[in-house]
Amino acid sequence: MLLLSTSINTLAYAESTEDVIKYRKDIMKSLGNHISVIAANLKGKVSINEDILTHSKSIFLTFSSFNITKTFPENSGPSNSPNTKSLDNIWYEKEIFSDAMKNSIEKAQNLVLAAESNNKENIAKSLGALGKTCGSCHKKFRKKKN
Ligand code: HEC
Repeated sequence: MLLLSTSINTLAYAESTEDVIKYRKDIMKSLGNHISVIAANLKGKVSINEDILTHSKSIFLTFSSFNITKTFPENSGPSNSPNTKSLDNIWYEKEIFSDAMKNSIEKAQNLVLAAESNNKENIAKSLGALGKTCGSCHKKFRKKKN
C-alpha cells in the first residue's frame, strides 16, 4: 500500500512538472508572438499600427508579472524532464537569472514609452534592444538547439 501511494505521488508530481514546463513555454511563445505582431507593423507587412502599443504593453505586463519561483520551480530542470531546454544554472545562479528578467522588464518599459510616442524609429530601436535581452538570457540559461 505504501509502495502504491508513493508511485501515485511520483506520477502526479511528474505530471505537474510537465504541466509547468508547458506553461512556461507558452508564456515564452506569447512573448515571441507579441514581438512578431509589432515587427509585422514596423516592416509594413500590415498597417495596423495601433496594435504596436497594445502588444508592447502586453510584453511589459507579461514580464513584470513573471513569477520566477512558480514558473521555474526547483525540480523542473533538464534532469527532471526531456521536454525542457532550461539549464540547471537557472537554479544555482538565481540572481543572474532574475537580473536578466529585470533587464527585459526595463527594456519592455522603454518599448511602451516608444510606442506611446508613436515614433517608428524609436520603436524599432527599443524592440531591438528588448530582443537582445531575450537573446542574452537564452544564451546563458537555455539549451541550444541540437
Ligand atoms: C530571464 C530569462 C529569459 C528571458 C528574459 C527570456 N526568456 Fe525566453 N526562455 C527562457 C528559458 C529558460 C527558456 C526555456 C524554457 C524551457 O524549455 O523550459 C525560454 C524559451 C523561450 C522560447 C521557446 C519556447 C518553447 O516552446 O520551447 C521562446 C519562443 C522564447 N523563450 C521567447 C522569448 C522572448 C521573445 C523573450 C524576450 C521578449 C524571452 N524569451 C525572454 C528564458 C528567458
